[in-house]
Amino acid sequence: MTINHPNFGEIASDRVIIFDTTLRDGEQSPGFSMNLAEKLRMAEALAELGVDVIEAGFPIASPGDFESVQSIARSIKGPVIAGLARTSRNDILAAAEAVKDAERRRIHTFLSTSPLHMKYKLRMEPEAVLQLAIDSVTLARQYTDDVEWSAEDGSRTEPDFLCRCVEAAIRAGATTINIPDTVGYALPADMTRIFTMLRERVPGAERVIFSTHNHNDLGLAVANTLAAVAAGARQIECTINGIGERAGNAALEEVAMAIRTRPDAVPCRSNIVTERIMMTSKLLSTITGFDVQPNKAIVGRNAFAHESGIHQDGVLKNAATYEIMTPESVGLTKNSLVMGKHSGRAAFRDKLRALGYGEIGDNQLNDAFRRFKDLADRKKVVYDEDISALVDDEVVRGNDRIRFVSLDVHSGSRGPARATLELEIDGAVSQADATGDGPVDATFNAVQTLFPHTAKLVLFSIGAVTEGTDAQARTTVRLEEGGKMVDGQGADTDTIVAATRAYIHALNKLLVKRARTEPEALSA
Ligand code: KIV
Ligand code: ZN
Repeated sequence: MTINHPNFGEIASDRVIIFDTTLRDGEQSPGFSMNLAEKLRMAEALAELGVDVIEAGFPIASPGDFESVQSIARSIKGPVIAGLARTSRNDILAAAEAVKDAERRRIHTFLSTSPLHMKYKLRMEPEAVLQLAIDSVTLARQYTDDVEWSAEDGSRTEPDFLCRCVEAAIRAGATTINIPDTVGYALPADMTRIFTMLRERVPGAERVIFSTHNHNDLGLAVANTLAAVAAGARQIECTINGIGERAGNAALEEVAMAIRTRPDAVPCRSNIVTERIMMTSKLLSTITGFDVQPNKAIVGRNAFAHESGIHQDGVLKNAATYEIMTPESVGLTKNSLVMGKHSGRAAFRDKLRALGYGEIGDNQLNDAFRRFKDLADRKKVVYDEDISALVDDEVVRGNDRIRFVSLDVHSGSRGPARATLELEIDGAVSQADATGDGPVDATFNAVQTLFPHTAKLVLFSIGAVTEGTDAQARTTVRLEEGGKMVDGQGADTDTIVAATRAYIHALNKLLVKRARTEPEALSA
C-alpha cells in the first residue's frame, strides 16, 4: 500500500523517511551550538548524505535561529526543510516565514499530551489541549501542505487520549504524526504497542506517515526506533552521532546501518548514502568540538579495529567472521598517502571533492591550500585525515571574526615561557608578546592581550589526528562565560598552534553566542 504525500508523492510501504534533527534537537543541547556558516556546512553535508528532511531549527527561539532556518531553506536543495513551532500563532508564523523559500518545506508543530505535562507544564485540561492541537495544525496548513504534528511526551500519554489527539490532528490536516519518547522512558515493547494501536484504531491513519522520535536516556533510542519501524512507523527522527537533549537522540548512522545490515529483520529502504556517514560524523565533531567515544557504534575510532589475536586471525581468513559490515560501507577508508609537497592546486581541489567537500570558495581554497603546503613541508606523510582536519578549520571557520596568523613560542625547563602571537581581528592584524607558566599559558595570555575577554578555560585536551610523532595534534578547548559554554577545536603539527587555533575557535563561538538573544527555555 502507498501513501500520497504532499512533498514526496507516492511513498512505497517499505520506504523509510529519514528526518534529521541534528540542527534542532542536536544543536539545542549544551555545548553543541553552531553558527550560521557551520549550520549551512552541516546542512549541505546532510543533503549529500541523503536525508529526506532536515529540521533546520526552531525559528521563534531567537533571531539567529530564524536566520539559520531561512538561510538553509533558501540554499539547500533536495531535502524538505522543516521549522519547529509550538502551538502559538507567533511560533507558527515564524516557522512559516523561515521555511517559505525552501524548494520543499514543512512546519513541525508540537504539543504535550501526557497527563504530567498537561497538568504541570501546560496547566491545561485535556479538552483544551485537544482543541489547541486542532487549531495549531489548521493554522500551519494555511502555509504549507506538509505539516507534522508531534504529541510531546507521547510515550507517556494515555492511550485513548493519544488516539483522540492523533485523529484530531489528521482531520485538521497533519500529514505526518510523530510520537516522541521525549524523556527516553519507553522500551521497545511500548513502541510496538503504541504504533500498532494508532494504526489499528485511529480513523485516517492509513493516509499519514507515522514518525518515531526517541531519546536515549536508557540507551534504547535506536532499539525503540527499530521497534517503531517494525510496528509501522515510516519516518525516523534522528541525529548525527546521536547528539541531542540530555543523553541524545537515536543516532542516524546506527539506524541507517541497522537497516542496511539486517534487511531480513528490517525489510525497509532508506535513501541514506551510507558511504558518507563517516565524513558527516567527523564534520559534526569538528564543528562542535566533541569527538565521539572510541567504542561508539559505526563511527567510533575502534568500531572496525580488531585488537584481539583471535579476531585478527579470523578477519584475515574471512572478514565476515568478525565483521558484520565493511568499513568501506560507512565511508571508512584506510589511511592513504594522498599528496606531497609538489602537488598543485588542481590536485588539491580534486582531493577535496573526493573527500566530499563539494565546491569551496576561492578564498577558502587558497587558505586551505597554503596550509596544506605548509603541512606537506613539515610532515613526512600527509593522510586524508590530515587534509580533512585542516580544511575543516578553514572552510567551517571561514566567517570567524578572530583568525590565527602566526605564533612564536620559547619554552623549556628554565624560566617562564614567552609567546609572540599575531591575530587578525575584524580584518586588522595585530601582535602581542606574553609570558606564562608554560607555552600554552603564555600563548593564551597573548590571546587575552589581543582580545580581552572574561571567559574562563574549563577544559583543554589534546589528541592526535593520525599516528606517528609528526602527526597533527587535534586540541579541544572549552570556555565558559556567564554560564555559557563553548568548545573549540584546532589541528596542527605544532601542539601549541593547535591549542591556539582551538582557543580562537572557542572565542569565535562565544561571540556568536553573545550576539544571539537568549532563547526562551525550550521544553523539547
Ligand atoms: O523530544 C521531543 O519531544 C521533541 C519534540 C519537539 C519532537 O524534540
Ligand atoms: Zn526531542
